[in-house]
Amino acid sequence: MAMTAGTADDPGATSAGGVAALGAEAERGRGAYGEGAMVVCDRLVRIYAAEGIEVQALQGLDLLVGKGELTALVGASGSGKSTLMNILAGLDTPTAGAVRVAGQDLAAMSARERISYRRGTVGFIWQQTSRNLLPYLTALQNVILPMRFAGSRRGRAARAMELLDLLGVGHCAHRKQEAMSGGEQQRTAIATALANRPELLLADEPTGELDSVTAREVFGALQAANAELGVTVLLVTHDPRSPRRSGAPSRWQLPREMIEPLGMRERVRLEAERDHIGVWPDAPRSAASEDASPPAAASPPATARLPVSPPEDS
Ligand SMILES: Nc1ncnc2c1ncn2[C@@H]1O[C@H](COP(=O)(O)OP(=O)(O)O)[C@@H](O)[C@H]1O
Ligand SMILES: [Mg+2]
Repeated sequence: MAMTAGTADDPGATSAGGVAALGAEAERGRGAYGEGAMVVCDRLVRIYAAEGIEVQALQGLDLLVGKGELTALVGASGSGKSTLMNILAGLDTPTAGAVRVAGQDLAAMSARERISYRRGTVGFIWQQTSRNLLPYLTALQNVILPMRFAGSRRGRAARAMELLDLLGVGHCAHRKQEAMSGGEQQRTAIATALANRPELLLADEPTGELDSVTAREVFGALQAANAELGVTVLLVTHDPRSPRRSGAPSRWQLPREMIEPLGMRERVRLEAERDHIGVWPDAPRSAASEDASPPAAASPPATARLPVSPPEDS
């Protein structure tokens, strides 16, 4: 199987004894997991230890979000959604696993880098409408507040007004939170989160406290931000009304006699070749394979990982 994922351009290289070399060659040429993606979570684990009891809030989460995508993760209460958002927002660190956002390794950031990350790379919207806005400021003042480094004073106000208009709350510019509906507050919160042109917008149950009509307006506002500004959006929700990522992944079942000898358990790695798809055992990370990182290719090969479920007849 490993041979099928070798260099398809050079079939002559498959002479006896050349197979191992071919495998090693393919290993070196393979792009890193999630290369070029906006969000890469690789076996993310977060364990909380409180009063002697351990809660495993994230149990080896893999997640890839491409640049410019709008993704909604739908999960039940207690499934670790807020835990994930706090990690991606740079407010919490994982117990194990790796996480990269916009090419930055969140575990390796210095305190200073973390501050600049939180200020400029990500924007967030929390479930509690009251956590997003300062109640004694108007909508416009709230949006301007994070723009300390964004051009002239007049430029800031103009951009803040543009954001409020884009999100359909221009009419709220001079109102304080108390004079706005829940949906208007959340849309103003989105404008505030976009103030510093973040690359990634994170929203933790942004419609959790809203009725369905208002929830649709808030989802619409997130879609507008994604479409008009190109910002990548990741929202977590238990709300089945949320927009879905189109094209649900399909389920494939591989014959047991093919996957077992290769130790393919839990997860495999897929690689798109010119005329076929290679399926690889998902080897554990090793120092050796990280050292052997390939030179930057013009376009990295499309790779993905797929969970392996036990055959249904077992
Ligand atoms: N600070 C914490 N200390 C201990 N357990 C926590 C803490 N935060 C969350 N948990 C637990 O982790 C699990 C996931 O929580 P959370 O990420 O808030 O889920 P969700 O947002 O999907 O409802 C839950 O069992 C929750 O009780
Ligand atoms: Mg939550």
